[in-house]
Amino acid sequence: MKIIQADYIYTPNGYIHHQAVAFSDKIEEIAKVDTLKDTYPDAEIIQMQDHSILYPGFINTHVHLEFSSNKTSLKYGDFMPWLDSVIQHREALVGECDNAVMMQQCQKMMASGVTTFGAISSFGNELEVCEKTPQRVVFFNELIGSNAMYADMLYGDFMERVKASMSCEKSSRISPAIAIHSPYSVHPIILQKAVTVAKQHQLPLSAHFLESKAERIWLEEGKGAFKGFFEKYFNTSTPVSTIQEFMYAFDTHPTHFTHCTQAKQDELDYLAQKGHSIAHCPRSNRYLGCGRLPIENLNLPYTIATDGLSSNDSLSILDELRAILMMHHDIPMNTLALQLIDAITSKASDILGLNCGRIEVGRLADFAIITLDEKPKREEELALWTILHSKKVTQLYIEGERYL
Ligand code: BEZ
Ligand code: FE2
Repeated sequence: MKIIQADYIYTPNGYIHHQAVAFSDKIEEIAKVDTLKDTYPDAEIIQMQDHSILYPGFINTHVHLEFSSNKTSLKYGDFMPWLDSVIQHREALVGECDNAVMMQQCQKMMASGVTTFGAISSFGNELEVCEKTPQRVVFFNELIGSNAMYADMLYGDFMERVKASMSCEKSSRISPAIAIHSPYSVHPIILQKAVTVAKQHQLPLSAHFLESKAERIWLEEGKGAFKGFFEKYFNTSTPVSTIQEFMYAFDTHPTHFTHCTQAKQDELDYLAQKGHSIAHCPRSNRYLGCGRLPIENLNLPYTIATDGLSSNDSLSILDELRAILMMHHDIPMNTLALQLIDAITSKASDILGLNCGRIEVGRLADFAIITLDEKPKREEELALWTILHSKKVTQLYIEGERYL
């Protein structure tokens, strides 16, 4: 047993003061430190520095590790030139991205307090690293392929990867999950089969959706920059799905839709009505010229994610939160900061079906500890100071073990 004491603890009831947490691999009790010492006399005592705040470990819901070697290869600023540059540089980038490169990025995520992440995997290359990192990983096996001729083969390969991720469930902190690449790149027949698998096995399900203006124009009118793209690379000139057909395919299983920057209000309302949620990737959206998701009007739960280094400059969740404070300038600062902490802890945990994300008895002991440079003068600004002043966490625990 361990007892950790910090000036503040972020709980489902807000920040609490003068309390401590007793934990094994799970959170056992929250009370005054003297009470806990009486109950657990043999416990190891961890006294955090002054001005520290104990948070549940942070969750980055959507990351593509396989692109971790990108720095200046991919073209930022506009979605279609970016996608073209992905096709052009993909092989080289994935080739350069060995386990050491990906592990270094897992460690950088940990330094920013991330104890859990959602790994979007196209080929299964990340599986070994995701088994080795101490972090909890929701391993999203991605299905891609719009061409009916290759659909069965691609689906077969996808199912092999799903099974491989299922078989490491016991020996690591991996939980298997399914990702659908997008409405333009997945044939409706295999899409429906994959949704059925997610439903049967109760697996988390995610999909990129309405990320760019070009995607919207292609799905609605069969026109725009995607037309040239599909003619060039796939020898086709019609979309495989409409916006509505794609959305309806997920009616029976709550899905975490990534981006939705180009979704209209009626589409967001539909997603909300079906119990879906959104992964918001503000820096990726800005860097690829995809617009801004208006989180001030969202009527469905959202999480925050960095996306991959294919469309970002770091996988730090703290960097991502600071970007949100700049982009969503209409929401009062303290309100937004609190919403963001909630989004990367309890909201993300609920959406991914995990038992972490909250400091409450019975939850997994995943913690991120932030230390402020001086005594916070007002409690209502703790979330804001956490986001503005923290580049790294002071300590990090996963299932009761210290990793930083
Ligand atoms: C496709 O299979 O249709 C596809 C793959 C990658 C990007 C876009 C489309
Ligand atoms: Fe993505």
